[in-house]
Amino acid sequence: MVAASLAGPVGNPPFRGGSAAAELPGPVGVAWDDGGDLVFCGPAHGLPWEPDAGRPDRGTLVPGFVDCHVHLPFAGWRADEFEARLAGSSYRDLHGREGGIYRSSRQLREADDDEVLAFSLALLREMASSGTTATELKTGYGLSIEDELRQARLARALADQAPQTCRVTLLGCHAVPEGIDRTAWVRAVCDELIPAASAEGLADQVDIYVEDIAFSLEDLEAVAAAAVAAGLQLRVHADQLGGTGAAEAAVRLGARSADHLNHCSPAGVDALGGAAATAAVLLPASTFFLRSTVPPVDALRTAGAAIAMATDLNPGTSPVTSMPEATAIGCTLYGLPPLEALTAATANPAWVLGLHERLGRLQPGLRADVVLLDVPTFAHVPYRPGHDPVVGVWSGGDLIGGDPERIDRR
Ligand code: NIG
Ligand code: FE
Repeated sequence: MVAASLAGPVGNPPFRGGSAAAELPGPVGVAWDDGGDLVFCGPAHGLPWEPDAGRPDRGTLVPGFVDCHVHLPFAGWRADEFEARLAGSSYRDLHGREGGIYRSSRQLREADDDEVLAFSLALLREMASSGTTATELKTGYGLSIEDELRQARLARALADQAPQTCRVTLLGCHAVPEGIDRTAWVRAVCDELIPAASAEGLADQVDIYVEDIAFSLEDLEAVAAAAVAAGLQLRVHADQLGGTGAAEAAVRLGARSADHLNHCSPAGVDALGGAAATAAVLLPASTFFLRSTVPPVDALRTAGAAIAMATDLNPGTSPVTSMPEATAIGCTLYGLPPLEALTAATANPAWVLGLHERLGRLQPGLRADVVLLDVPTFAHVPYRPGHDPVVGVWSGGDLIGGDPERIDRR
């Protein structure tokens, strides 16, 4: 495969504060073996074999995008809540027994397994056609032990069918279910759900939504202890709608990431800046849709935080499947330089999911997860948000999205 340029992070993730991906002008090439592993990435004259005859050396090659914050599986949209917010309601107002997470939970319960899989698989294919070659799948719409386990099993089934590499996160503490008080639900998650999911091999990580409408710092401590006991890494929805101190608590508890961070305090920024074990996951599409306060991104970059960026795909706050689109929003809304955004969309989220030794960079020995973009430099991706730049997507060397011939016709 030849192209006009190649862009991607070089070195060992996680990359900290302001680490820009490197850009190599062309002609460049990448090659992979029959096992789907990269064997060469660099100037085209060094390719171990002759490139396909007739293929033009146009476009930019980047590592496949890694979406490390995704609320799939789910089973229906909530566009009327989007309209209600535009008419003046807030996300908090709609987070009631009829709406928000509770509504998605009902939609999930009312759909049979085949319907959930078909709905979610269509979205995973859409993600693949936008260049996502690895993704998280999260529970959180179960709201009972049995339904959370069902959602985790559906996530594992999706992982088998999806074109991407998938990791499953158990978000047992997303909303307090009806008919149980918060503390009793947290105990049930810690004592029953997390051990049961772990015994069945259903989860790779555990998440919790810390917010005034959801769970407290004390609940976070309990979930962190249960995650450690189960041998699962912790993730934290932190400081999204308001500041709670969750970012610094996530660092103290050794969480793999603190996500959202719209209201992250200076203490949270300092903690993330010095954190060896915890990345800052930015979710600009949900900021855009909720018209939220922008996180202290410059301060996080300066402090040296390891920054990742993801779609937050979910029916409430971010109905966005495309990493190029999330990148475009992130660059403009958060002031992220494009090549830092590329690191935040590839190697760093691979680290968040624990996949960095296999994917997230263009480097011999790693999986051939490769995206061909019809742009001269990566900056054109966030610069042209309405344009679909993805013309070819390979996962482990197999074409899973795009139409590489398209670049010939442009
Ligand atoms: O990451 N804030 C909590 N969870 C999701 C939204 C879930 C929903 O509204 O369905 C988020 O934004
Ligand atoms: Fe989320």
